[in-house]
Amino acid sequence: MRFVISALFLFVVAAAYDPLDPNGNLTIKWDIVSWTPDGYVAVVTMNNFQMYRHIMSPGWTLGWTWAKKEVIWSMNGAQTTEQGDCSQFKGNVPHCCKKIPTVVDLLPGVPYNQQYSNCCKGGVLPAWGIDPQSAVSAFQISVGMAGTSNKTVKLPKNFTLLGPGPGYTCGPAKVVPSTTFLTQDRRRKTQALMTWNVTCTYSQFLARKNPSCCVSFSSFYNETITPCPTCACGCQNKNSCVKSGSKVLKRAGVNTPRKDNTPLLQCTHHMCPVRVHWHVKVNYKEYWRVKVSIINFNYRMNYTLWSLAVQHPNLNDVTQVFSFDYKPLVPYESISEYMIFFFTFLSMLSDNNLAYAHADDTGMFYGMKFYNDLLMEAGPFGNVQSEVLLRKDKDTFTLKQGWAFPRKVYFNGDECMLPPPDTYPFLPNSAPHQQLFSGLAAIAAMVFLLVTVW
Ligand SMILES: *[C@@H]1O[C@H](CO)[C@@H](O)[C@H](O)[C@H]1NC(C)=O
Ligand SMILES: *[C@@H]1O[C@H](CO)[C@@H](O)[C@H](O)[C@H]1NC(C)=O
Ligand SMILES: *[C@@H]1O[C@H](CO)[C@@H](O)[C@H](O)[C@H]1NC(C)=O
Ligand SMILES: *[C@@H]1O[C@H](CO)[C@@H](O)[C@H](O)[C@H]1NC(C)=O
Ligand SMILES: *[C@@H]1O[C@H](CO)[C@@H](O)[C@H](O)[C@H]1NC(C)=O
Ligand SMILES: *[C@@H]1O[C@H](CO)[C@@H](O)[C@H](O)[C@H]1NC(C)=O
Repeated sequence: MRFVISALFLFVVAAAYDPLDPNGNLTIKWDIVSWTPDGYVAVVTMNNFQMYRHIMSPGWTLGWTWAKKEVIWSMNGAQTTEQGDCSQFKGNVPHCCKKIPTVVDLLPGVPYNQQYSNCCKGGVLPAWGIDPQSAVSAFQISVGMAGTSNKTVKLPKNFTLLGPGPGYTCGPAKVVPSTTFLTQDRRRKTQALMTWNVTCTYSQFLARKNPSCCVSFSSFYNETITPCPTCACGCQNKNSCVKSGSKVLKRAGVNTPRKDNTPLLQCTHHMCPVRVHWHVKVNYKEYWRVKVSIINFNYRMNYTLWSLAVQHPNLNDVTQVFSFDYKPLVPYESISEYMIFFFTFLSMLSDNNLAYAHADDTGMFYGMKFYNDLLMEAGPFGNVQSEVLLRKDKDTFTLKQGWAFPRKVYFNGDECMLPPPDTYPFLPNSAPHQQLFSGLAAIAAMVFLLVTVW
């Protein structure tokens, strides 16, 4: 029942942000490094400040609307996808004359004179929380027919970011204090002539109608395997899936990724490209052990740099993680006092632990470099797995009422659908009824509280 509460809670409070990474954002910074006779040269830097949401292949696409009649004379480290109509120019022709340019990264290995530092990664932009050194992408742009001083320059408008699909919303560009750069010998500082920033945030609701992953459960104490919910990821594509072992799969090209990333799924009742399985494996005296597996059902996708964020009250005491990397997340830094009051209130009402206000119950798992950071396409190798050893907190640990299962699971930054709570593997002789009652009481209280507040 607490899952229903958490879903309601999420719906009410957190529709626009990611509760496991509330400060996560992606910033785009423009530093004007020189003025030219008809405009300026700027370095554009994108930092992915999210904890676990990478921008994967085929990479980012950045767009904006020029405020005046600006053109792009040249670019290093990126290019526009279209030149547009440059017919008014004689002789020297700009790189792009479009009012709304669409910029993409270059591929690795382009000639040296087209590169720029931190460019040319095919648009892949890893998350800062997992790979801080690589979480940056940059290019240089020379803009003409623009303002030539910090008084006359007009900021570009309406920034859009695809990463690679929809989901990001970008705010307006804002002039910020000029960036300072350290020279290579680190003995002198230089300064941008003018700097503006754009902040973009991700929302799964904008990205897709249906979840893109689901979760299944099992345990040593009950032989029931709780499957993913049926049609967890939508069943619209039911006719275009492929049965495993079918002849179609042997045809050449079935594993070839499409440009638009359209999946080719193995037929399942959940129709998700990815399933996460959480198995409660052993109950020791002081510890307990969980096995986590991630299974790929998409024949056309290798997930490089996959990530799994999980919320569970016992993740505050992870003792050992075998064969995945692990980092705790600190999700509720910015929690308001009102919310803390609210959580306390809810957990007082409920006999089972609504341990949401703990700051350290969330963590992320990701693959070890060159070992299992690649989740292969659907098939015999399309899975990765690990075991996690957790130290019991004697006051909270229980195998009852689904406590041992995660509260939230995110694969590659998107929240996965959990099974309904009444299907969780039960301990023999444990009834779910009193849980239902306390859950209903908590919902009633919440509705009451909301009505009072508004
Ligand atoms: C963007 O993320 C950074 C790093 O987490 C944070 O310091 C900054 O406040 C965020 N910016 C906005 C506008 O949320
Ligand atoms: C602008 O963005 C950069 C990263 O690109 C960040 O370090 C800086 O704090 C941002 N400035 C403001 C005022 O948000
Ligand atoms: C614009 O440039 C002048 C000097 O050229 C400087 O004094 C001023 O602070 C700058 N303004 C901004 C917003 O950067
Ligand atoms: C912003 O850009 C998008 C995509 O380029 C476009 O569809 C939209 O109409 C633009 N909005 C404004 C206010 O210019
Ligand atoms: C996935 O990676 C393997 C090994 O690198 C490669 O053979 C296969 O073609 C790739 N599949 C896709 C869909 O990219
Ligand atoms: C195992 O859990 C299921 C619910 O998922 C329950 O119906 C069943 O009774 C449980 N089995 C035992 C032996 O308790």
